[in-house]
Amino acid sequence: IYGPKRRNSRGVNLNIRSHYYPLMEKMAAFMDKQYPAKPLLAFEVADDAANTHSVTSPYDRRKTVGSVQWTSKEQATKALDAAWAAFPRWDATPVAERAAIMRRLGDLMEEHMAELMTLCSREGGKLLTDGVDEIREAVDFCRFYAMRAEENFGEAIVLPGPTGESNRLMLGGKGVFAAISPWNFPVAIFCGQVVAAAVAGNTVLAKPAEQTSIIAHRVIELLYEAGMPRDVVQLLPGDGPTVGNVLSSDPRITGVVFTGGTDTAQIINRALAARENAPLPTLIAETGGMNTMIVDSTALPEQVVVDVVQSAFQSAGQRCSALRVLYLQDDVADRVIEILKGAMNELRIGDPRELGTDVGPVIDEDARKGLLEHIEKLKAENRLVAETPMAVEQTREGTFVAPVAFTIDSIDALTREQFGPVLHIVRYKSSQLDKVINDINGRNYGLTFGVHSRNESFAAEVAQKMRVGNVYINRNIIGAVVGVQPFGGQGLSGTGPKAGGPHYLQRFVNEKTITNNT
Ligand code: SER
Repeated sequence: IYGPKRRNSRGVNLNIRSHYYPLMEKMAAFMDKQYPAKPLLAFEVADDAANTHSVTSPYDRRKTVGSVQWTSKEQATKALDAAWAAFPRWDATPVAERAAIMRRLGDLMEEHMAELMTLCSREGGKLLTDGVDEIREAVDFCRFYAMRAEENFGEAIVLPGPTGESNRLMLGGKGVFAAISPWNFPVAIFCGQVVAAAVAGNTVLAKPAEQTSIIAHRVIELLYEAGMPRDVVQLLPGDGPTVGNVLSSDPRITGVVFTGGTDTAQIINRALAARENAPLPTLIAETGGMNTMIVDSTALPEQVVVDVVQSAFQSAGQRCSALRVLYLQDDVADRVIEILKGAMNELRIGDPRELGTDVGPVIDEDARKGLLEHIEKLKAENRLVAETPMAVEQTREGTFVAPVAFTIDSIDALTREQFGPVLHIVRYKSSQLDKVINDINGRNYGLTFGVHSRNESFAAEVAQKMRVGNVYINRNIIGAVVGVQPFGGQGLSGTGPKAGGPHYLQRFVNEKTITNNT
């Protein structure tokens, strides 16, 4: 019962294993296929072996997925020329046409679900169940933003005015957007950014995470198949210093939509601000979190543990929304910890392509190293509460980290976000609640937060006091659904607007008022 509760983006329970068997049969065709990925630009890109990198699977570094040719500085600049030139034409394209391309992309991703899931596992180390959720979310983004664009950008908004004067408000694209996406949602967040920017009338230069460029390449191939002109959306795989620098320093970039670390968002922000004679840019950033959950003495321990395990360890803890610090009220702490130990003991670490696996690998060796340093330090301080057993022979060739739980004294013991399956537990007395809330708010991260309590007014009061983007009461704190739980944080966690929310697209457009003395 402690296996993560699988829900697709429409809330349908996917925990019925047989659901996966037809997909798994289809996946077989893509298990060993090798993918050579290159920049997908408005112009032909010559092969460049010296700039091509082999891609391996996080669960077994001996297995290759293919290769990625990185974009050179010159190619990135030329791509920007093409995006700039294409903007007026694309912005003038009727919104219904733009939206239709996005809907076709959604349909194509559904058709290619098995292949995309396989790539999510092979390149991103994702469980099959996470892969289904992720692709459903990407499809939802396509359809949701297509719908919102048609609702909002179809016709000029007619405004009042005196007789003889007409006033209209028009919304149009801003120009060229750079879309810089993370590896943890290589289809959903990648697509969400590109689709939002493009459907609003902007041309887009998409830089996927270095770790998941192959899957991004496959998605953009599908986007072209859906009818997207090649100069409107271009794919620039590569490293931050080369591609990222071009994208954040050129004055023709009108906006950046970014998901990733807070530090990187700040670097981008500074680079954009340092440009001379450049328009004031739009930065839409979704960044890190130090997500917490408060459990009071009235909470149901069994339910708390199910939700904590999902929140902290699903996707190997590599979600921006994942739970990092669990606050347990003293009266209930021992019972919750006892059940949590049992649940963590049951989790199965292993190959993400097997249905029985609960926890797959972390993304790469750097990630594992950073997490293990933190884990070793807390173990040396005798703070270990529970650790999932890991069969070494099964995981030797991959970058696995066993789920682990520690006690700490306060959230202030954490210097930075640990982006993996590491849970920290703080015990508190009910008299300390105000301090707990102040400590959490004081960190200035504000992404997700959970409260477990059967006292409704307690839950409501705590929810009201937390300065975060997404509050979850009596459930897990991950897996926001497009159009249902708009997602994104505040403070160090992001600029807003919220992905999958009603106000997201408005940040990608310029407003123009036209007053006509008729
Ligand atoms: N949108 C994802 C979630 O809610 C975040 O990383 O889990």
